[in-house]
Amino acid sequence: MKNAVIYVFSGTGNTKKICDLYKATFELNGVATTLYEVRGDLDGIPSPQAYDLVGFAYPIHGFNAPHIMLSLAKALPKLPKGEHKQYFVLKSSGEPLKTNNISSYKLRSILKRKGYAQFAEYHYVMPYNMIFRHTDEFAAKMWDTAKALAPIEAREVLAMTPHMLKGVPFGHFIAWVLRIEQPAMRVNGRMFKVNAKKCVGCNRCVKACPMGNITRGKDGKFHFGGDCVMCARCSFNCPSDAFNIAMLNGWRVNGKYDFEYSGENQPNKHSRYCKKAYERYFAEATQKINCANQNNDVK
Ligand SMILES: Cc1cc2nc3c(=O)[nH]c(=O)nc-3n(C[C@H](O)[C@H](O)[C@H](O)COP(=O)(O)O)c2cc1C
Repeated sequence: MKNAVIYVFSGTGNTKKICDLYKATFELNGVATTLYEVRGDLDGIPSPQAYDLVGFAYPIHGFNAPHIMLSLAKALPKLPKGEHKQYFVLKSSGEPLKTNNISSYKLRSILKRKGYAQFAEYHYVMPYNMIFRHTDEFAAKMWDTAKALAPIEAREVLAMTPHMLKGVPFGHFIAWVLRIEQPAMRVNGRMFKVNAKKCVGCNRCVKACPMGNITRGKDGKFHFGGDCVMCARCSFNCPSDAFNIAMLNGWRVNGKYDFEYSGENQPNKHSRYCKKAYERYFAEATQKINCANQNNDVK
């Protein structure tokens, strides 16, 4: 195996951080790796056929892959009859509920029709960029876990080891119903507002929007188009917390996490939220990491 491509969409950087870990392990093992950052403009997408190993990476939105990943899958070339290409999926989400396992169903079915077959998928829990803010202490714990786990799992991917996550009852139906989120977010995105008193005029949001959905008129007023994929990049990275994200404003999370936090224990008002699921996630990860370390398996 000589080269790999990972098509990555990452609203606020969490999924990209996981991909960086995979890239580092792939390259340590002699596989030149391209991380292709997916944007709304899909011109010039590298063809998967040019790579020995192909991956897709995304944050989970409403228990689904974001719409932009589905558009990417639709834009990829159909393989010639009789040809097949295998691929893997990486996903990040804020909580470890098993329902997140259904998130690649639609992506999988689009790619299947084009001759691509999924052989593995891995899910990493990273801090929420929507709903509520995790503590930096908890974010650092998630990141420490991902840093130890991803190199092990990247090596499984290099060995093309099958690793499919178990679905949940009525998974296809649940995913289908929840995809209502995608058109709803396009409507919601048109209703974003920026507080002119708070805005410092840096235009970071305009430049960063992966859909080119935010523009400013000569009068400095913001205009929001109908292409929002609700990745939260604009509101999350706003240096003055000037965004109002319409119907989801109560769930807005602003500002980067300190993934290297090593200070005192922080009070966590969400400590009971999905407690069992987080405990199971960390326990399973620790078991896998310890097992790999015992076998001296990590390169
Ligand atoms: C619109 C939206 C919907 C989300 N839905 C879910 C979800 O269904 N389950 C979940 O665990 N996290 C959900 N999240 C949280 C993100 O998946 C999580 O924070 C992820 O790590 C962000 O990755 P990124 O920085 O690469 O965008 C959602 C975030 C957004 C913005």
